[in-house]
Amino acid sequence: MKKLIVGNWKLNLDHLEAIQLLQKINYSLPDGIETSIDIVIAPSHTSLRSIQTVIDADNLSIQLSAQDVSAFDNGAFTGEVSSYQLKKLNVTWCIIGHSERRQNFDETDEIINKKLSLLLNSEIKPIICIGETQDQRNAGKQVDVCLKQVQEIFKNIRKDRLHDVAIAYEPVWAIGTGVNADPEDTKEVVKEVIDYLDSKSFDIDKFRFLYGGSISPDNTEMYINDDNFSGLLVGGNSIVPDKFVEILLKSK
Ligand code: 13P
Repeated sequence: MKKLIVGNWKLNLDHLEAIQLLQKINYSLPDGIETSIDIVIAPSHTSLRSIQTVIDADNLSIQLSAQDVSAFDNGAFTGEVSSYQLKKLNVTWCIIGHSERRQNFDETDEIINKKLSLLLNSEIKPIICIGETQDQRNAGKQVDVCLKQVQEIFKNIRKDRLHDVAIAYEPVWAIGTGVNADPEDTKEVVKEVIDYLDSKSFDIDKFRFLYGGSISPDNTEMYINDDNFSGLLVGGNSIVPDKFVEILLKSK
């Protein structure tokens, strides 16, 4: 399966800076790289329109993701952005359940489940984040925590709507800390999640598992060469053009 490398730009860059970053990344990529990897960038909502215009106009081999979506379809929900609105902007992917949203905005698995359902209705591919905190890992609860997240998020999800799904295992303690998880320590979580989805008759071939948390050019190959993962979710280094390009080149 093709590797999937996602750059989560988080709350950084206005739309003009976002275009500049996209162009810097694109100029440094060799022709045809999209035949070996799927490259996805996730800028802020305010940059989606401009970035999509550049991708379309220059026929770039970079795909667009949103960082979040509303759990509501439409109506009196001031400040929200719906899956329908994202689809109209030709957004291909959307991140949901990021730990920064769970921690800072009280997002629950129930909310993430609603978001997943709406994304699938709009035919937007989900990038679903799971992961345990440092305390939960210290208590040896990483498998239980991640499994429960997956069970809740996939509750009553229609299997026929799932075509291309990414589950990103991002241990919370590895995000933005410079301390990436040892691939050996990620194996049990990924295996249990796959076994669970399999036991519920989800077609596991439609899933790609990503690792996220302090990815840098120095540790990229460690995960890319690990059978557990089909890609990466990159935070901080995805807005540093040279580093993100190096990560992409090492992933192909
Ligand atoms: P860092 O790569 O900065 O640790 O962030 C990871 C992340 O949260 C990607 O979604």
